[in-house]
Amino acid sequence: MTTWMCVLGLASVASLVTPDVAQGQAAAEYRTRTEAAKQWPREAVRGAKAMVATDEELGSKAGVEILKRGGNAVDAAVAVAFALAVVEPAAGNIGGGGFMLVRLADGRTTFLDYREVAPGAATRNMYIKPDGKLDEQASVIGYKSVAVPGTVAGLELAVKTYGTMKLAEVMGPAIRLAEDGFAVSEKLAQELQREKTDLERFPVSRRIFLNDGKMWKVGDTLKEPELAATLKRIAQKGAEEFYSGETARIIAADMAKSGGLVTLEDLAAYKPRVREVLRAKYESSGHEWEVVTSPPPSSGGVAIIEALNMLKDVPLKGWGDVESVHMVAETMRRVFADRAAYLADPDFANVPVAGLTASCYAKELAGTIDAQRASSSKDVHAGKPHACGAAAAGAPPSTLVSLGEGPHTTHFSVVDAAGNAVASTYTLNDNYGSHVTSAAGFLLNDEMDDFTTQPGVPNALFGLIQSDANAIAPGHRPLSSMTPTILLRDGKLSFVTGSPGGPTIISATLLSVINWMRLGMDAQAAINAPRFHHQWLPDQIFIEEDFPESTEKALEARGFAVKRRGHIGLVNAIGIDAKTGERLGAADPRDKGAAVGY
Ligand code: DON
Repeated sequence: MTTWMCVLGLASVASLVTPDVAQGQAAAEYRTRTEAAKQWPREAVRGAKAMVATDEELGSKAGVEILKRGGNAVDAAVAVAFALAVVEPAAGNIGGGGFMLVRLADGRTTFLDYREVAPGAATRNMYIKPDGKLDEQASVIGYKSVAVPGTVAGLELAVKTYGTMKLAEVMGPAIRLAEDGFAVSEKLAQELQREKTDLERFPVSRRIFLNDGKMWKVGDTLKEPELAATLKRIAQKGAEEFYSGETARIIAADMAKSGGLVTLEDLAAYKPRVREVLRAKYESSGHEWEVVTSPPPSSGGVAIIEALNMLKDVPLKGWGDVESVHMVAETMRRVFADRAAYLADPDFANVPVAGLTASCYAKELAGTIDAQRASSSKDVHAGKPHACGAAAAGAPPSTLVSLGEGPHTTHFSVVDAAGNAVASTYTLNDNYGSHVTSAAGFLLNDEMDDFTTQPGVPNALFGLIQSDANAIAPGHRPLSSMTPTILLRDGKLSFVTGSPGGPTIISATLLSVINWMRLGMDAQAAINAPRFHHQWLPDQIFIEEDFPESTEKALEARGFAVKRRGHIGLVNAIGIDAKTGERLGAADPRDKGAAVGY
């Protein structure tokens, strides 16, 4: 589970708040780079009609197959999500949860929230040991870390509401991949080797993902018959099978036997949500831009709008310019301080979305930044968000549209020939989630660690300080950083983006938006550009290895504590060429993403 990279990064959070909390996280995007940036593709993949960008070529191809058979972007996105559950077991999933942001060619937008929820028996202090200290293992590995999965319910809702095909049809590629098998890539073989210690603790994980201890080699065919059988049952009977049928019984039996909390009742009660998207307008380079992004329980959409508002009047020149890096990092610092105080599940907490995303509030916050000198996080606290003018007088709008009755984390983007677009990020939380594989053949999440596992103490995987409003309670959704986002330019679809990476999701997504909208980079350059991240606590700026030493020194001279990191984020984006309408697939080369179009 642990790489030295992130232990290094997160150990410093622990030293700031609780010196004895050991932390680790294995997300691929934190790994030291294996391929020099100069070998990365310079150009996006061009497609006249449609494009799918994911972490895995087989996942992208599954989406293209469905598009070519006449499906729309939502059909293709659901096909991708099921296919990645087979070929990208680190993050693709049916045992986790996620978000799907949809913008249809006719202008309609929606946000499907199929985030996991805490089981009924979960309690606020369930990860705190009798000595009062946080049990930093229990919320990230094993049965107790598992929250009620949402993916299958969300994907069925997506296809029923906005798709044109039947669930069984879009699941076809995934079933084939699980049943016939697929060639183990170098990336997968290496990843499974790294995860060996944690996966071998669980017999089904060991059997399937470690080849019964013999380990998978590059080029071996990995078949997943139990998963194929589960997918077939879902294809035949719908999501109800997962939540009340044989799959539910298998999950509940595993849980009861091994100390997990998820029960048949929890599964039967799970409901995805349909939420109103967040929107904000900007002007840049003579164009009108609209950012369409993720509402709570994502913290990311609020953070991105708050940050873009704060940066509205700041001249940004690019990431070779230390003052631009400084201003964005100071913005991130303040946005993350607000995240820690205010963001939580909106169904149970009163999240001040209107105030946090108000431009007058952003102006006040931006006024606290010294453009020459780094602030100290000790002196930066959450602000007092407030709306302005007429908006201040009205009641805050509810972000919940309706209950979804009817019809390692990974981000993928899809645009179809008609111009429908999907940005989706879904996750098991840590790479390989809880590392527990259900007897039904799929990995289960460890999403419980996204709650405030102990107030005032950083969570185990990402070192995030979070509020009491995000405390563990039955049926609550843990706060997320996942931020699928879509940009419109002069009213037309322009950019589809998002990333994995825990809190670095927000920074990686924000930087991709700035690169495209403010700096005018072309699509692949916007993804390749070096990334940095500041999350308030720890008081450090993390920079990718591509930054020259001169930037590091200049930031230090301004008072920043600088840490180098291998990868920040894995952004799989699609841009639209404003002149030709071509789809520009820009997959993230940091971990061999693949854009496939036609
Ligand atoms: O929802 C969240 O913010 C986290 N569970 C995301 C985890 C993540 O991105 C890990 N992987 N890369």
